[in-house]
Amino acid sequence: MPASSTTRTVAEVMSAPAITALSSETVAEASARMVAHGVGSVVVVDGERAIGILTERDLVRFGAAGAAAADTKVSEWMTEAPDCTAPGTSVQEAFASLADRGYRHLPVTEGGALLGIVSLRDLMDVAHIQPVVHPSTIEAPPGLEGGIVAERAVGDVRGQEGFYHYRQYDAVELADKRRLEDVWFLLFEGHLPSAAERGAFMAEIAAVRDVPDAIVDLLPALAASSQTVMEAVRSAISMVGAAHGFRPTLDIDRAERRANALQLCAVFPTLIMAIHRLQHGQRPIPPRADLGYGANYLWMLTGEEPDPDKARAVEQYQMTTIDHGFNASTFTARVICSSGADVAAAVVGAMGALSGPLHGGAPSRALALLEAIGTEDRARPYLVDMVTRGEKIMGFGHRVYKTDDPRSLFLRGVAERIGAEKVDFAKVVERTVVEVLAELKPGRDLYANVEFYAGVVMDHCELPQELFTPTFGSSRVIGWCANILEQAADNRIIRPSARYVGPPPPEPVPAQD
Ligand SMILES: CC(C)(COP(=O)(O)OP(=O)(O)OC[C@H]1O[C@@H](n2cnc3c(N)ncnc32)[C@H](O)[C@@H]1OP(=O)(O)O)[C@@H](O)C(=O)NCCC(=O)NCCS
Repeated sequence: MPASSTTRTVAEVMSAPAITALSSETVAEASARMVAHGVGSVVVVDGERAIGILTERDLVRFGAAGAAAADTKVSEWMTEAPDCTAPGTSVQEAFASLADRGYRHLPVTEGGALLGIVSLRDLMDVAHIQPVVHPSTIEAPPGLEGGIVAERAVGDVRGQEGFYHYRQYDAVELADKRRLEDVWFLLFEGHLPSAAERGAFMAEIAAVRDVPDAIVDLLPALAASSQTVMEAVRSAISMVGAAHGFRPTLDIDRAERRANALQLCAVFPTLIMAIHRLQHGQRPIPPRADLGYGANYLWMLTGEEPDPDKARAVEQYQMTTIDHGFNASTFTARVICSSGADVAAAVVGAMGALSGPLHGGAPSRALALLEAIGTEDRARPYLVDMVTRGEKIMGFGHRVYKTDDPRSLFLRGVAERIGAEKVDFAKVVERTVVEVLAELKPGRDLYANVEFYAGVVMDHCELPQELFTPTFGSSRVIGWCANILEQAADNRIIRPSARYVGPPPPEPVPAQD
């Protein structure tokens, strides 16, 4: 490969002239010359031509064989017809060629004539800042689409089938038949709880779901200084970790990691509602141990006895969103955990990923879309205009599902069951979006995702829009933590590579003005 104008060449770093020997000389003479010049090899020449090379490694073999240096000719121990390189070869390529073949020295020749020699050491200083392509480098597609980067037993998503599961149980069936704490237990412990296990687990949760004393007095300032509930909860989670002295996952055993994880999952909903109320000038309402997950969630919002249907609907939404493959926030949690950081650090990072509109920020935007469309007759022109302008329709499309999202189908049913005000209109809009996207984005297989009906359900359950993303987080934190426990149990730091696409280094550093 000829070197480009910005790449350094062998000619620039080689030693010239090379130290040489004749094949008729003795090994003793050649090695004395190597010592005198402080070099690790001599090129064996015939006139100007390089016919062999004798290196320190040959001398070690020679010594081990017990041969007499003064009586042995160079020709007997040299490597004949050595690989050579041209002066115009790039440093990078010469480095790769030495590394591939396990050599330390390459004679540099042009038109058969020996010009010099280049050693691994000469190349190292320059080559180590060049992009060395590792033989096992795999090109990952943009967005890492389809790339398998970990092994998980927490659950899986089968996009083509429109199916996902938590530890082999259909997640939608779990949301239909079980309570949230059962799924939480399943994800942490690997099996569904017995009645006794459930009782003990609920008591364990109840014991750690209050806001820790150390941060109670800090919440009002946090609530006042944050724009969103999610931001404030993110900071509060950090404070819980600090207040309880969470240590790096690398330094603690599973029991301690599990205790940290359980506490964060338990306190998360309490923090959401406490911060929300503080932001509205109201006093936080402490959690109630006698209520189930969804009922307690709504209780902490208003302090009124919750409607059981609404409590169940919210809880079912939360159950459907606990875990969902290697989504952006779960990936983030695992990356942070893989560095050995503490559980709170991993959860805080995951919250950052979830807050984005392309991930957990979608449900409030999906509901806002329904409000913006307003009436059925406006749906089609409004949506065509949006897509034509290149805008995304929130609550539609999915990286993995290329068919109906099972969570969306389930939540549509939940919305119908509880008689959500906006469900009929949402169904019309859903049909129209699918039609418009099929016409304007053919072949992309775009359908409603979990967030579309989530907004409709939460709206009916009187959760304000500002709590949609935090509510998603309140259950997804259980999935993050199950993934953190899994990652920490069999950890290797997650450290992929990127291709450098900037101007070629090394650019000399200009002198300071
Ligand atoms: C979920 C999402 C981020 C997946 O992204 P992705 O796998 O990277 O898919 P892309 O964004 O590359 O989309 C592929 C194509 O479909 C189109 N598309 C995807 N979702 C779309 C949507 N909601 N509205 C309009 N077009 C959409 C893209 O414009 C793109 O078209 P192109 O081929 O002409 O460029 C994406 O569908 C989206 O932004 N949806 C809206 C946000 C949302 O609801 N998020 C919640 C997810 S649970």
